[in-house]
Amino acid sequence: MPEDSKIQKTINLCVRRGFVFPSAEIYGSFGGFFDYGPAGAELKANVRQSWWRRFVQNREDMLGLDGAVLTHPRIWKASGHVDAFNDPLVQCQKCKHRFRADHLIEQELHESVDGISEAKLNELFKKHKLACPDCKGALSEAKKFNLMFKTSVGATEDNYAYLRPETAQVIFANFKYLQQIGRKALPFGIAQAGRSFRNEISPRNFVFRGREFEQMEIEFFLHPDKLDDCPDFDRISKHKALFCTEADQKTGHTGHEMSFGDAVKKKIIQTRWHAYWLAEALDWFAGLGLTKVRLRQHRSDELSHYAKETWDVEYDYPEWGWKELMGIANRTDFDLLAHAKESGKDMTVFDEATKQKVVPHVIEPSFGLDRLVFTLLLDAFEEKKDAPKAAANEGNSANADGKARKPTTPAVEVKTILHLSPIVAPIKVAVFPLMKKDGLGEKAWDVYTALKKTLPQSVYDESGSIGKRYARQDELGTPYCITVDHQTLEDGTVTLRERDSGGQTRVKMDKIADAIDG
Ligand code: GAP
Repeated sequence: MPEDSKIQKTINLCVRRGFVFPSAEIYGSFGGFFDYGPAGAELKANVRQSWWRRFVQNREDMLGLDGAVLTHPRIWKASGHVDAFNDPLVQCQKCKHRFRADHLIEQELHESVDGISEAKLNELFKKHKLACPDCKGALSEAKKFNLMFKTSVGATEDNYAYLRPETAQVIFANFKYLQQIGRKALPFGIAQAGRSFRNEISPRNFVFRGREFEQMEIEFFLHPDKLDDCPDFDRISKHKALFCTEADQKTGHTGHEMSFGDAVKKKIIQTRWHAYWLAEALDWFAGLGLTKVRLRQHRSDELSHYAKETWDVEYDYPEWGWKELMGIANRTDFDLLAHAKESGKDMTVFDEATKQKVVPHVIEPSFGLDRLVFTLLLDAFEEKKDAPKAAANEGNSANADGKARKPTTPAVEVKTILHLSPIVAPIKVAVFPLMKKDGLGEKAWDVYTALKKTLPQSVYDESGSIGKRYARQDELGTPYCITVDHQTLEDGTVTLRERDSGGQTRVKMDKIADAIDG
């Protein structure tokens, strides 16, 4: 990434301000693994909490789960991951560097080859005489590389387990038990937020494609004959989105704006419940301030082995273009049937309304937390250039010998502001004393400690000029700053400064919490 690209500048900010940075830097870092610092850990927790509140706690039809990360190998045999969770790998015969074959082709030919077979990739390698990008050596044929991390369990090497590559299967394996103890009738969902692990051949684009990452997944279980029986469909049917269909992709079109009602009527989206979950995802993103998104239909040649229909929510990234933020798939009864077969256990549910025993079908909204956190940071990033005030008078000034001083070009000051929504901002409010003396330090500390009881994501800062302290908070995306000054001692008011407008108002100390949102 060029240093002046918005993505690179956001990555630099992430590292500089401790949002997220490569893991084990003191040992030269560890490819595909990242650590989140204080600001990043709070931001991530806020996004996860907002998701959990909206999709689990605020619903009557959702059960929460926090399952194991190290998982039984038969789960992954049943799900098809042992056989089919592969990426195409090529190796340079000379320098032995390994590359993900489809990414290499995309990089060299600038065309998307997502999901195409190894045979077709090999044809493209031959046709375009592609060589190793590092040493120009000859490349091996593309072959399958399984992305699951395997480890041994207990004191024997023979007992192995996989680190889960998606949280979804832990939900499917627990489906029947959770349905019974949760006493849920169809339709209902099970949601889980947690770590997933994939041994990506070439982790890249910072946290966008890591080897350890967090997913927030919902498996929503439906009667197989009632995929259009969605009571909330009318509410969302007039909502509009940018749809990029398979046909649009063939003609290189970005997409067309359409309502969800029309998309279902025209059979662009096959079922109402699928449309409902797409609309819900977009609505949640919009609430977090993310609107530069579209829905892209998976082409028939890129659908996962388990999916009948999938739509990705894509974000329009500054240098990368449209890329997947999350996906919503119709997984049918693929997973429950697979686990019923492998385990020999019954995965049916009795549907009271139809008096039928059915294996439910599944719509799966699958969110990636790290990808979303980075996208929120990128979307919120703004650089503002301020000309220093000294420049205005400079032409009139003189040197000690009386000659007019040659005007110099003042350095332009660049300030970074993160326009994060107050819902996710890692710090909600920062409290400053105008100066430490005259009792202002003590007063500001009292304001801060009182505020922290209701707003734990508050900080106190008394070092540097007020301007520097504002700038520090702007870079962290803090929506509000409070300054305690001499007037505070007289009338009990403080200055409340709003990040995006820079506007300042005076508010009573006991009214601060009412004056800010988030
Ligand atoms: N259960 C379905 C599933 O896992 P996926 O498209 O492979 O589907 C879902 O992953 C989401 O998880 C993606 O849209 C993305 O947000 C996130 N994700 C997947 N692989 C990732 C990786 N290597 N690094 C960061 N996030 C990833």
